[in-house]
Amino acid sequence: MILNHRLMTRLGALVVAASALLLRGMPPEVNLRAQETRQAQMFSGAEKYERFMGRWSQRLAPRFLQFVAIKDGERVLDVGSGTGSLALAIAAQTRRSEVVGIDPSQAYVDFASKRSSDPRVKFQVGDAQNLDFPDASFNSCLALLVMNFIPDARKAMTEMRRVTKPGGWVAASVWDYNEGMTKLRLFWDAAVALDPSVKRFDERDMPFSRRGQLSALWNESGFKDVEETELVIDLEFVSFEDYWAPFLESQGPAGVYVASLTKGQREKLKDRLRNDVLAGRPDGPFTLKARAWAVRGRVPGNRLN
Ligand SMILES: C[S@@+](CC[C@H](N)C(=O)[O-])C[C@H]1O[C@@H](n2cnc3c(N)ncnc32)[C@H](O)[C@@H]1O
Repeated sequence: MILNHRLMTRLGALVVAASALLLRGMPPEVNLRAQETRQAQMFSGAEKYERFMGRWSQRLAPRFLQFVAIKDGERVLDVGSGTGSLALAIAAQTRRSEVVGIDPSQAYVDFASKRSSDPRVKFQVGDAQNLDFPDASFNSCLALLVMNFIPDARKAMTEMRRVTKPGGWVAASVWDYNEGMTKLRLFWDAAVALDPSVKRFDERDMPFSRRGQLSALWNESGFKDVEETELVIDLEFVSFEDYWAPFLESQGPAGVYVASLTKGQREKLKDRLRNDVLAGRPDGPFTLKARAWAVRGRVPGNRLN
């Protein structure tokens, strides 16, 4: 049974990896649909995601909110709410604000809904590219660690702007996959060092993950008072195993890649990473830095309440 489960996970990961290659050069609509299918596989296990990346979203969310500076009483849309960290942080920091979180993953929506009984917070299935809300129905619209996963980010920008009132903030944050998100940088550098052909899966070139790319998108989308900043948090691990084990959960691009490896390849990668991550120190607690870029911009027009 366990063997079958492992085999199925590995087969699924291989299909995802192979489809990423096959789809290069396909018409855009085929590519977008395939991207959506890949997202569905990458973001399917809520508890697993929490162990892998969600615990760091919980840490990043309050820092992001400090930057956006939403006001108590605002109605906020959390786009790509995942397991709910940002929406819950908004509820914790305000007394009167209402938050709606939308995410295409039913599993994440169910998990997030169980995390809070606060009637001010609601989660529902939805897609940033086609928001199921009337024009100007939120005071602000936030997307934490999501923009790089949306197949048509420009369509999502149009939608986020449409549902936000004039004068309201539309804001987002994306990890600095190229450099400052050291947890993932160490992982992909080790994987590529062992097999240079893995470069094509490396998250280094994730959309909007370099300094200035988010603010360029915000300016291009017609927002005003656009401002970009960096948010740096500490990722604390109790041991190397605490760092490594969540990569085995098949969540996100790195998890899908690990699931596609044979046992021998996985062991090699683990050994290489242990060397790189511990860098000669004995195993035990350690901290890695993680940098994300954050942007905010106001919807043009006269401010409404
Ligand atoms: C890295 S997770 C971030 C989740 C959450 N915001 C957090 O910070 O923990 C990316 C999320 O984007 C969601 N996502 C992917 N495509 C999306 C789309 N078209 N519209 C809205 N969310 C999307 C995924 O389902 C996933 O929950």
